[in-house]
Amino acid sequence: MWLLALSVPLLPAIVMVYSRYRVKVATLCQQALAWALRLMRGRVCVKSAHAFVFSNCTHGKVNSVLETFDLYARTHPSLCIGPEIGEVLDEVVRRVRPLRVLEFGTHCGYSSVRLLRLLPPAGRLITVELDPVTADLGEEVILVSGFKHSQFQVLTCSSAEAIPRLHSLLGPDAGTSEGVDLVLMDHDPQQYLPDLLALEREQLLCPSGCSVLLIKRKQRAEDFRGVLNHIRGRTDCYSIKTELQCLMEIFYRKESTI
Ligand SMILES: *[C@@H]1O[C@H](CO)[C@@H](O)[C@H](O)[C@H]1NC(C)=O
Repeated sequence: MWLLALSVPLLPAIVMVYSRYRVKVATLCQQALAWALRLMRGRVCVKSAHAFVFSNCTHGKVNSVLETFDLYARTHPSLCIGPEIGEVLDEVVRRVRPLRVLEFGTHCGYSSVRLLRLLPPAGRLITVELDPVTADLGEEVILVSGFKHSQFQVLTCSSAEAIPRLHSLLGPDAGTSEGVDLVLMDHDPQQYLPDLLALEREQLLCPSGCSVLLIKRKQRAEDFRGVLNHIRGRTDCYSIKTELQCLMEIFYRKESTI
């Protein structure tokens, strides 16, 4: 009885702790559900875009593949970057003229195809996709567009797992590899900063100049604050080249090593 009497004053505290805990659990559940739904919807979207493009494009014709993607995106919700961002991407590729390109987030293969069609014959693309189903569909689209495995490689893993493997994949002369000239980040925006730091640490960004493109989908500004702070703190090697609503281009150059 005295125990009960003692616990009465504690009751509000217990209720508060419990309700707080419950909110946390509920938030966690909601986040897990939202994540699962996003993943499922993403897959459905990639699958239907893939089916549409695969059956409606002229195989082996890269422009037909891109046009069919654009046709699909006009009438369906799509995860592809679309022709507007695509044109900005083209401009960057024409200006930078990269030989080695790294892409995080293959999705349906649209941006991979756009990138590959502007690379020189010796150019190479490594594209990283976490979801194995999406990676397979993306790879098929790249092959249907007429590109060969000697020009590209799809890695099915997280960006964090891919980065340490890149030196050995960038060519037989791995020891002399200068890193990549262009990076396109279109995966989880929370990975943009850690991946940029990892690429820097592994000396995978070409020291004589590398453009890093960050695609902004419907992200909040906070997702980019970390990257922006990092760049602003390292004006010796980073500058912001282009800042649009849909994309940001960062330029990296390490003068001292030239
Ligand atoms: C091919 O295109 C037509 C017309 O644009 C569309 O109705 C059809 O569903 C497409 N095929 C696939 C497999 O999506």
